[in-house]
Amino acid sequence: MCTQDSIQQPLFSPEFQRDFDTLLKWRRDVRRFRTEALPGGLVDELLSLAALAPSVGNSQPWRFVKVQSPEKRKAVRDHFQICNAEALNDYHSERAKQYAQLKLSGMDQSPTQLAVFCDHATLQGHGLGKKTMPETLDYSVVMAVHTLWLAARARGVGVGWVSILDPKEMTSIMDVPGEWAFVAYLCIGWPEEEHEDPELVRHGWQDRVDISKFIVER
Ligand SMILES: Cc1cc2nc3c(=O)[nH]c(=O)nc-3n(C[C@H](O)[C@H](O)[C@H](O)COP(=O)(O)O)c2cc1C
Repeated sequence: MCTQDSIQQPLFSPEFQRDFDTLLKWRRDVRRFRTEALPGGLVDELLSLAALAPSVGNSQPWRFVKVQSPEKRKAVRDHFQICNAEALNDYHSERAKQYAQLKLSGMDQSPTQLAVFCDHATLQGHGLGKKTMPETLDYSVVMAVHTLWLAARARGVGVGWVSILDPKEMTSIMDVPGEWAFVAYLCIGWPEEEHEDPELVRHGWQDRVDISKFIVER
């Protein structure tokens, strides 16, 4: 629960902090969706919240394509199948068998689909912060995706990130300016099931690793 004091600064209560931790623990990459449409306005609400994400120089380089047309959706699905078959070729024996059994996209069912791009040509932000690290523009878009992901989960809505796609092909399929670099394809909708552990853990692909293994001191 969040309360407001007299000067309108939010105070985040211990209950809210616990709820927020639970949100982080229960945010899942969802690939299994119910097909019914989300209520009108919900996706725009999520996009407005995503736009609160931080961005380098306040450049707000995120560009969202609402993929509505059956033709575009089919083009992405067909392209995903090609990329996924190519990815499978990189694996051998048991790993290949395991990979082939994974469900790596919910785009056959999810009622809402967004292609997310980063506008590398944006003048917003006047270049602040990205001279030495131009990739910070892309990082900014990833921040927006994660913000949307959490806002969605807080409303019981599932999000699945599909990256088994060729970025140039996605720019072409979506017919967006060449300066827009593809970042993510998001499948969004009500999840068919809820889990506290990631699907790739449950299916034996990759366990979680304790964070202590990834922290060094200097
Ligand atoms: C950059 C990025 C790309 C991803 N691409 C895919 C993908 O193509 N297909 C898929 O099934 N999951 C994809 N995922 C989801 C991850 O598999 C998932 O986040 C991870 O297994 C941990 O599960 P969790 O998100 O439920 O905690 C992607 C996640 C990220 C952050």
